[in-house]
Amino acid sequence: MRATGTVHSAYAIGRIDGRLYGSFVEHLGRAVYTGIYEPEHATADEKGMRGDVIDLVRELDVPIVRYPGGNFVSAYNWEDGIGPLAERPVRLDLAWHSAESNHVGIHEFADWAEAAGTEMMLAVNLGSRGLDAARSFLEYVNHPGGSQWSDLRRRNGREDPWGVKMWCLGNEMDGPWQIGQKTAAEYGRLAFETAKAMRAFDPSIELVVCGSSSPRMPTYPDWEATVLDYTYDVVDYISLHLYFDYETGNTADFLAESARLDDYIGTIAGVIAYIKAKKRSQKDVYISFDEWNVWYHSREADKALLAGQDGWPHAPALLEDVYTFEDALLVGCMINTFIRRADVVKVACLAQLVNVIAPIMTVADGTAWRQTIFYPFLFASRYGRGRALKLPVEVPGYSTAFAKDVPYLDVSAVESEADGGLTFFLVNRHPEEAIELDIAVEGFGARRVTMDKVMAGHGLKATNGPDSETVAPQDGAGALFSEGRLKATMAPLSYRMIRLGA
Ligand code: AHR
Repeated sequence: MRATGTVHSAYAIGRIDGRLYGSFVEHLGRAVYTGIYEPEHATADEKGMRGDVIDLVRELDVPIVRYPGGNFVSAYNWEDGIGPLAERPVRLDLAWHSAESNHVGIHEFADWAEAAGTEMMLAVNLGSRGLDAARSFLEYVNHPGGSQWSDLRRRNGREDPWGVKMWCLGNEMDGPWQIGQKTAAEYGRLAFETAKAMRAFDPSIELVVCGSSSPRMPTYPDWEATVLDYTYDVVDYISLHLYFDYETGNTADFLAESARLDDYIGTIAGVIAYIKAKKRSQKDVYISFDEWNVWYHSREADKALLAGQDGWPHAPALLEDVYTFEDALLVGCMINTFIRRADVVKVACLAQLVNVIAPIMTVADGTAWRQTIFYPFLFASRYGRGRALKLPVEVPGYSTAFAKDVPYLDVSAVESEADGGLTFFLVNRHPEEAIELDIAVEGFGARRVTMDKVMAGHGLKATNGPDSETVAPQDGAGALFSEGRLKATMAPLSYRMIRLGA
């Protein structure tokens, strides 16, 4: 099968915001405790943070991490996580039926973020709390001093404010599972008033209002229209979430799921445009896709814990999906979708980062290891920042019950802002046929293949584990750039990244 197309330097989708490669750490399962934080671990730093995990997060080069939830934030008292450890309360977390020691709070997470070379994106609780707790938290985090909350931060050991730029106005407030679920109108009003107060403190912060928890929600997409009607003038982003499971049990359907992601983004981009027009506004609102991933492997295993049958364990092993090679292929397609929609999606957070539906896993008191999905994320994060380029491709496709003409080749192209490299991220969805790639590359000057990484030939259900990381990229062979054309053969069911350097 052949895939032909043209990429031209004059035809760009837009500039990719580096925060497209963000992630998420929630107080959930072992994400925090024995994930990022384990004071007794051999690699722990003086703050109790695992050095082996920090190294892997640095390898991924994650620019921003959302914290502390997720569902957790909707009943979280941020004040529980400040002050001497011994005096911090143990709380019963209703979202994940777990006991929360509060040994990690904003100070510890901020120190971790600094060590991991990432920025914080903080969420305020609009479930069980509201405007007042949000404004105190903002003052504690971002005010230099001379006020009640900022002086308390200084007494707690942090002189300078952290200057956090991005704030989420709650989490998934449309979901019946959420503590303090609201109707779109209730939430829209609350989010508006909270945003107004937060902006009165600092107009330069960026605010994210909750969109739907997924396009499967019965209130989607009216939810977005109503919420934006209330908040359009005071927010910068609307948040979307989407997880894929193995609904129909076949690979063709599974790998086509990214078409739904594309539809979802397209629909909400339309809703944003509609509200913008309705308000006669000059201002733009973008999408913060701040939870996305594959999530289904752990669902059965988690049922007893979530039903409370095991009491209130501290840091139980929840949502510990072990990802397959097949999952890595879909993750590659999802990232390509974000790149192709980089004009409207400015921020995206792979959910989550460590242990909980995550690219990085840890063994308590043991090793840290890379899941299969680590690699497509790694390549995009490292080489996918710059200008997203248009690249229409002629290639056969297939249809599923929910998507028409899903191309066998999924591709995105980025011109790097760091070194001018032109990078193609590719997935061959075909189960048996190789794809002969033939892309005309115009307006970029002389080029040669400088990097070629391939994930191919693994069983679809192959996984990594603490003792073996066999589902990993290899150097590709045979990719050639000659007379202005990139040619390569993509193996069936494979992921590939090819870079053309100057
Ligand atoms: O990431 C796991 C959970 O998924 C988050 O807590 C919630 O926001 C979403 O439903």
